[in-house]
Amino acid sequence: MEKEAVRQLKCEITTCTRCRLSLTRTNAVPGEGPVHSELFFIGEAPGRNEDLTGRPFVGRAGTVLENLLATIGLQRDMVFITSIVKCRPPENRVPGKDEIAACEGYLQKQMDLTAPSILVPMGRLASELVFSHFGLPNIPIGHIHGQLVNPGPYHRDLSIFPVYHPAAVTHNPPIKGIIFEDFRVLGTIIEEKGLKFGHEKRVK
Ligand code: URA
Repeated sequence: MEKEAVRQLKCEITTCTRCRLSLTRTNAVPGEGPVHSELFFIGEAPGRNEDLTGRPFVGRAGTVLENLLATIGLQRDMVFITSIVKCRPPENRVPGKDEIAACEGYLQKQMDLTAPSILVPMGRLASELVFSHFGLPNIPIGHIHGQLVNPGPYHRDLSIFPVYHPAAVTHNPPIKGIIFEDFRVLGTIIEEKGLKFGHEKRVK
């Protein structure tokens, strides 16, 4: 039943015409991962490689994300990976407020279906969206990255752990040490919470 809901949602996203990004995309990029996963990663928007393949994080930022996951014993297919907008903005521009709003319902449904323990917004925009979604005051990513945030009494089983966007490692090399350290902390939180991934496939 859930698998059917996931399939239906994917179909809705890949045929979506809610905003102008649908006019210039090659493929929408719904996201991918297990139907249930304890970790739910949220990027900003598909880039060129994602647009061409319909898969999230398959370019340079994807390689960084895979390397980060490997340091905590995870492979990309053990976690859910998506972005706040599902279609590539032309020339990789920052998605507009209206485009983010048009896509937000899809992210909400994906979070509901995946039922993760930890949301990991990557970068400023994803972090802002997740904080505002839970009615939390925005805190700049430079201050809140690498910290576990509780979204409030109605979401006791959920935490938010913002990190810098993996693409920042390429644009801003000093971020590399910070984001790897944040993933080390994420690894310890996973241990403490006893979170399990895909039939104990976690290799660390
Ligand atoms: N950056 C994102 O935020 N999302 C992708 O899917 C790829 C790169």
